[in-house]
Amino acid sequence: MEILIQPSKQEACALGARWIARLLRAKPNAVLGLATGSTPVLLYQELIRLHREEGLDFQAVTTFNLDEYLGLAPTHLASYHHFMRENLFRHINICEKNTHIPDGLTTDVPDTCRKYEDQIQAAGGIDLQILGIGGDGHIGFNEPGSSLASRTRIKTLTERTRQDNAPFFDSPNEIPRHVLTMGVGTIMDAREIVLLAFGETKAQTLAAAVEGPVTASVPASILQFHEKATFLVDEAAATHLKRADYYRWVDANKPKWQQV
Ligand code: GLP
Repeated sequence: MEILIQPSKQEACALGARWIARLLRAKPNAVLGLATGSTPVLLYQELIRLHREEGLDFQAVTTFNLDEYLGLAPTHLASYHHFMRENLFRHINICEKNTHIPDGLTTDVPDTCRKYEDQIQAAGGIDLQILGIGGDGHIGFNEPGSSLASRTRIKTLTERTRQDNAPFFDSPNEIPRHVLTMGVGTIMDAREIVLLAFGETKAQTLAAAVEGPVTASVPASILQFHEKATFLVDEAAATHLKRADYYRWVDANKPKWQQV
């Protein structure tokens, strides 16, 4: 596990984008796991800039998104299909057929979820998974209490998560109660994971995930078991980390070959 504390979320996202760019230059047909929410927006803007100004090529890249609301059409303004199209896909040269997001309009949930897992397998697995973290420690939409071995499936949102996501909907009644999400086990299969967390509101949850016990009550804590998980955070999100000074020391003293 590595914790990289950056002065600001802008700098954290610039570093995250360089991280992805390094992977794509080494492996142009890499498979990326992508996240939604407000956290990765700046990261995607930086990727778009790298594409426009430095020719970062997405032509052979495949993507799998973590989750989608059940019952929302891809055209719905709060759907994650819409989010990804507007915040990333339509600005880069990715082939639409290579982008995957769970189908929120499916009429056969178990079949859709099984096929999503199969598609990830068929693509060779996820090379790098980007994650945010929910205020209650969820990753994807794996709410507290999710099995740490879970696979892609339906989940019921907590009232807290529904309220957190309320600003994206016109009225509270519109916020779906159900979602499709990669499971915790699906996420853990990624060869590398980068979790982004910014702002004071994430500080307590981040500390619980990084320095607390591994528990299904804080699904992000399972990343302590991942061989290659990095937490890319800003100063505000790092305020509750007990070992923050050590993480800074490690970063400042990295051998040159380890630096991005
Ligand atoms: C939603 C998404 C998560 C995301 C979380 C945090 O629940 N399904 O993938 O990490 O929100 O959102 P934000 O980045 O807006 O704080």
